[in-house]
Amino acid sequence: MTGASGNGSINKGFIDLRSDTVTKPTPAMKAAMMDAEVGDDVWGDDPTINELQAYAAQLFGKEAALFCPSGTMTNQIAIKVHTQPGDELICADNAHIYLYEGGGIAFNSGVQPKLLPSDRGRISAAQIAQAVNMEDSHFPTTRLVCLENTANKGGGAYYSLEEMQDISALCRERGLRLHLDGARLFNAFVEAGYGPAEVGPLFDSVSICLSKGLGCPVGSLLLGSADFIRRAHRIRKVLGGGMRQAGFLAAAGLYALKNNVERLRDDHRRARRLGAVLSGLPFVAAVAPVHTNIAIFTVAPGWDAKAIVESLKSRHILISTMAPGVLRLVTHLDVGDQDIDAVVEALQHLAAAGEGKAAADGTGTGKAAGSSSATGAGCGYGASPAAPVLPVAAPAPTVTPAGATAGTGSSE
Ligand SMILES: Cc1ncc(COP(=O)(O)O)c(C=O)c1O
Repeated sequence: MTGASGNGSINKGFIDLRSDTVTKPTPAMKAAMMDAEVGDDVWGDDPTINELQAYAAQLFGKEAALFCPSGTMTNQIAIKVHTQPGDELICADNAHIYLYEGGGIAFNSGVQPKLLPSDRGRISAAQIAQAVNMEDSHFPTTRLVCLENTANKGGGAYYSLEEMQDISALCRERGLRLHLDGARLFNAFVEAGYGPAEVGPLFDSVSICLSKGLGCPVGSLLLGSADFIRRAHRIRKVLGGGMRQAGFLAAAGLYALKNNVERLRDDHRRARRLGAVLSGLPFVAAVAPVHTNIAIFTVAPGWDAKAIVESLKSRHILISTMAPGVLRLVTHLDVGDQDIDAVVEALQHLAAAGEGKAAADGTGTGKAAGSSSATGAGCGYGASPAAPVLPVAAPAPTVTPAGATAGTGSSE
């Protein structure tokens, strides 16, 4: 499928709405990559990585930056640098660092998380103030607060600048470090009206992903003070994240930061259109508010989430499962307006034909057309039963037959 402003064919003709991680480099990005000047970055010799790090640090008003292979690595390095084993960090109960980084908080840092109930992935200064442990050797030392903006499991919701300022002021007052998982921070920038120069100074460290909405094949950046990045560099090495002539990848990052930010508005417009269409369909019980590029809905009673995924797949549309009975569509660089037209048509067809209805015997296979392979049903992660992604007012997720969601959850 070819998007009007998208990047053309993906996954051999599939419209892939599972995640914004699925994008492939555009011809212009590829040209920038092929032209990159490179060197051995473990020796600090790669001019393109050095340029990207300097560019990003300057953008966020930080002293330094570190190019890493993934957002998981930038988050985990930050946690490691900010803490000591036995410390506690505070984050939302549906934070990526807690749910989807393989237990890395404990594995890498020996730290325990204190989880706060969140408003679609967002926590408040008041909640954090309540959660800080008092100085007493019975309690772990509360050392770090981690925010996520936009919040993945919160359906792309973002913090206001004031909320982040309040949390930052509290952390400074209480001597806590503050890290931002900004895997989709640029989506917040174009939507919320604040930018990197305002957000950077509020945090001790910021992680941004180049490989999500910004459309790069690989890469994340960790930003902080010169001393923080010096220590982060050592941890990156320990984790095996030191790369050699990775300037080819950094060139994609530079291209993306200079060319692919404003276009995120198109992704948001398209996601809002999907949300509006979904809210009128009989197989949808509730649609979470669409703030950025993520549309999440709960499947109505009498319909089967897995069958809906399979039915769309038979029409060459891939979506992902967030939790039992909760499905997610993510817009990105490789999905254009014509693709959205095709998705809308398929959703309406599915509703009219009753495809995706739960079978009378409760097996949940219903009338879904197409194959039953796992492709398109998620990203190979178990569907997380964790915190709700829909507003409290939304009906409870449909009970899905046993086994229907195995291996179908998405964390990306
Ligand atoms: C909010 C958030 N943080 C971190 C990550 C980890 O990024 P990566 O897949 O590059 O490890 C993701 C991945 O989707 C994410 O959604």
